[in-house]
Amino acid sequence: MSAFEKLSFETAWLGRPREHWTEIDSTNERALAWARAGAPHGALVTADRQTAGRGRLGRRWASESGEDLYVSMILRPGPQRAIGALGLAVGVGLRAGLSRWLPEARLKWPNDVLVGGRKLAGILCEARWVGQAPEVVAGFGVNVGREEFAGPLAETATSLRRELGEAAPERGEVLQVVLGTIEQALEEFFTGGFAAIREQYERHCALRGQRVMIEMAQGTGAKTPAVALGLDADGALLVAPEDGGATRRVEAGDVWLAP
Ligand code: BTN
Repeated sequence: MSAFEKLSFETAWLGRPREHWTEIDSTNERALAWARAGAPHGALVTADRQTAGRGRLGRRWASESGEDLYVSMILRPGPQRAIGALGLAVGVGLRAGLSRWLPEARLKWPNDVLVGGRKLAGILCEARWVGQAPEVVAGFGVNVGREEFAGPLAETATSLRRELGEAAPERGEVLQVVLGTIEQALEEFFTGGFAAIREQYERHCALRGQRVMIEMAQGTGAKTPAVALGLDADGALLVAPEDGGATRRVEAGDVWLAP
């Protein structure tokens, strides 16, 4: 058993029980199956590598390294809970943990963690309803030890190692820290909804006040320039289109920082 596999966590409920895989298609896929089979709130799936790691909007998540984090959490928020902003809460917690090493880390709506405009971590939430209760798999990937990024990622991605060199932490230490901060953000969210974490999100939001490009009609590819104003009460991104039109809510899809 590797040291990573044997890690213990100082959390109240997140991270137990845990399954670790040397290689798997996707920790989210495995966690969805485990959830369907009855895995409890807080259960965790980790892997050294993923052969079919997936990102938001049908994208792939490069997962070869063995030095990075590939993690999926099974969450059962309870009956009738609104979960639309749960991924934002995971983002708040993940950023808070990563800020121990990189205080300049920012959140790019909806829930990427950026450093210097490059992506350090991403989150993918997948949910289904079982009767009245949501069953959620919240997966996250953090680039920890990887130094080289292939193809387009060479221009857009970063890692703790790339930012900090020899001072970068090991992935096990990163997991221990971020599970604690994610658990704290989730508890605040489960108790007080998005209102409880909205101020934290906005304080560390990479987009607020910035010029962004938004897709007005999903899937068309046509992008419109706007200024990001902040977040609405439910976590939607509020933007003011540059053509002077009314403030709009962006609820899904992607937003790009304007060049
Ligand atoms: C994104 O930024 O598009 C989200 C990336 C999420 C990647 C993680 S890695 C662990 C978990 N398993 C997956 O297949 N995806 C998520």
